[in-house]
Amino acid sequence: MFLPPLDEAVLQQEAHRLYGLLNSVSRSQGVKWTLEDCLQAASYTARINQLKKEKDAVILAHSYTVPELVCGVADFSGDSYALSRQAAQTAAGTIIFAGVWFMAETAKILNPSKQVIAPAGRAGCTLADGITAQEVRALKRAHPHVPVLCYVNSTAEVKAESDVCVTSGNVFDIAAALPQRELIFVPDLLMAQNLEIELKRRGTPKKIISAGSSCCVHARYTPQDAAELRRQYPHIKILAHPECRPEVCAAADYVGSTKGMQDYVAASSDKLFGLLTEQGLVNRLEAQYKDKKFIWSFGVCSYMKENTLQNTLQALMQPLPEQVVALSPEVIARARKSLDKMFELAK
Ligand code: 13P
Ligand code: SF4
Repeated sequence: MFLPPLDEAVLQQEAHRLYGLLNSVSRSQGVKWTLEDCLQAASYTARINQLKKEKDAVILAHSYTVPELVCGVADFSGDSYALSRQAAQTAAGTIIFAGVWFMAETAKILNPSKQVIAPAGRAGCTLADGITAQEVRALKRAHPHVPVLCYVNSTAEVKAESDVCVTSGNVFDIAAALPQRELIFVPDLLMAQNLEIELKRRGTPKKIISAGSSCCVHARYTPQDAAELRRQYPHIKILAHPECRPEVCAAADYVGSTKGMQDYVAASSDKLFGLLTEQGLVNRLEAQYKDKKFIWSFGVCSYMKENTLQNTLQALMQPLPEQVVALSPEVIARARKSLDKMFELAK
């Protein structure tokens, strides 16, 4: 990709802007962003920020994408629920979605007249790839009259087969609010177990029929990881995502979505947090709360990290066919119903 040189003053100004945002963020364990790192990133962020205005594009970035995208060019970053709301509301002609493919599909379903571009192309997700629409249809045949809840980490075709879509931020409330005592929940097997436990704890027990897979990042955490954190840091507050195993959730001080964890940190007077979740959220919190310390030892979503400044700039300049989301009107219409139901119940 040929890029004409940028004015040196513009580059320096952008590098210092980035450094102000990223100087407390870890690049790798124990290594923080330097001004030199920001100078390299600045040659892309300056161009991206200029070009997105010219092209009437909005950049949405999931919190798990790299911090130079989240802090440097995103107009909005957040969890799946917040991003889907933004995608539904945006007035921009083009949505650049830095996330994984199912998230870009969700943006298209919610705002089909927009061009939706995913810089990382068909970046996978072990959950979304863990069940097919055909398998959901088989589940429905085996359990007629049982409503199907699909986690947002699912393909558009799976959403089209479902009654209600849910995110990690609203799954417990929506499942509790439904009148039925039996629910099908796909495709997160571990979240299904957490859901059954949480519904019992709330006094609204339900049988959860589940199928699918688990998140390759969150399923790796063990209760020993939580115990080791407490051994090393007796006053630590441990936060876990509901994609973790039930034993891990039981060992945490708080279990919630990416946004839920951010809110917990914001409201807490504690200074030390152990995060059993993906690196990107840790980086966001490091950027936002410079007086707090975040312990994270592993957990990287390689799919999310396929979004880079380079492919974001390229996608803005000239998207490749495989970066542009295309869904049939029939799938959009059917999948939209399950998302609209979520927005209605999440109110
Ligand atoms: P959130 O719904 O918390 O954004 O999580 C999405 C995800 O992929 C977690 O692994
Ligand atoms: Fe999918 Fe897990 Fe990556 Fe989230 S962290 S996008 S659930 S693979």
